[in-house]
Amino acid sequence: MDKEHLNQIAKALVSKNKGILAADESTGTIKKRFDTINLASNLSSRRNYRELLFTTPNINKYISGIILFDETTQQNTIEGMSFINHLNKLNIIPGVKVDQGLQNLTGSNEEMITTGLDNLESRLIEYKKIGCEFVKWRAVFSIGPNLPTKNCINTNTRLLAKYAIISQKTNLVPIIEPEVLMDGDHSIKDCYITTEQVLTETYKQLNDYGVFLKGTLLKPNMILPGSSNQIKTNPEEIAMKTIAVLKKTVPPIVPGIAFLSGGQTELEATNNLNAINIQANANNLPWELSFSYGRALQSATLKEWSGISANKKSAQTIFLQRATLTSAARQGQYSPSLENTNI
Ligand code: 13P
Repeated sequence: MDKEHLNQIAKALVSKNKGILAADESTGTIKKRFDTINLASNLSSRRNYRELLFTTPNINKYISGIILFDETTQQNTIEGMSFINHLNKLNIIPGVKVDQGLQNLTGSNEEMITTGLDNLESRLIEYKKIGCEFVKWRAVFSIGPNLPTKNCINTNTRLLAKYAIISQKTNLVPIIEPEVLMDGDHSIKDCYITTEQVLTETYKQLNDYGVFLKGTLLKPNMILPGSSNQIKTNPEEIAMKTIAVLKKTVPPIVPGIAFLSGGQTELEATNNLNAINIQANANNLPWELSFSYGRALQSATLKEWSGISANKKSAQTIFLQRATLTSAARQGQYSPSLENTNI
């Protein structure tokens, strides 16, 4: 394990004004996204869309790294350069999702575990060879009556730790993503309690497996009420509760925390990240607090593009605008009035 290299990549991914684009939607998930614009999902439409994102002029000012899906690691730009080489040329660090999706937790039809450990090491060796520098594994936890169970938390966090140590042995930085889902009508307090349990167990397992924490990043949810909960909240409360949980659970030597957007709108995810960074700056927290957004960077871009090549340029303008504003939020320098300025 090259600890210095792992630490250097982890730090570069959360460098001051930058964050990560999650473009690693699996074939099933990207189909759902394309359904919203009435576009058939096939190799070619998926390649075209990813090319639009990765070739947006100046995107490397705001995006430090991009998480790819396996299929995209094998695809090329229209000029015939592999996407991975293209990103490297732009100084954007290529990474890849290496979990292989979810299956029912044994004995449960409500909870899921993440799969992909079986042939993980050989896949990682290949990804490293073709130029990837980091990897991602997502575990999910639902909040509900008696959920998540202890079994679900223990099993999923142990898998995260095993994945992390195997990744580091291959000199790939593991992004550790234990996502407490927004679905449901639970309160912000329920999210706080569950996230605290999940993160506590995550770091216990990472320690038990000897994971080198300086060579990792955490990708957590923010502390939010369930998406169908009617009680109003605000970015300041979300930021305060999110930081409180992180302070209780995440060791200070972890270089960075890159939040997922998890179904928040682009504006919510930007406002909340901004409030988190304003409070972090005032409290001198030990980690960088950045983003690793999928939907909250892509939704408006996808809609503008709608699979029509004549819309590529205007969609790229929207993507650059969203990345610029998310980068501002990542520094606590966003204001909603910036939404109307031309980048
Ligand atoms: P969202 O930001 O859309 O939640 O996607 C991030 C991600 O990578 C989920 O695994």
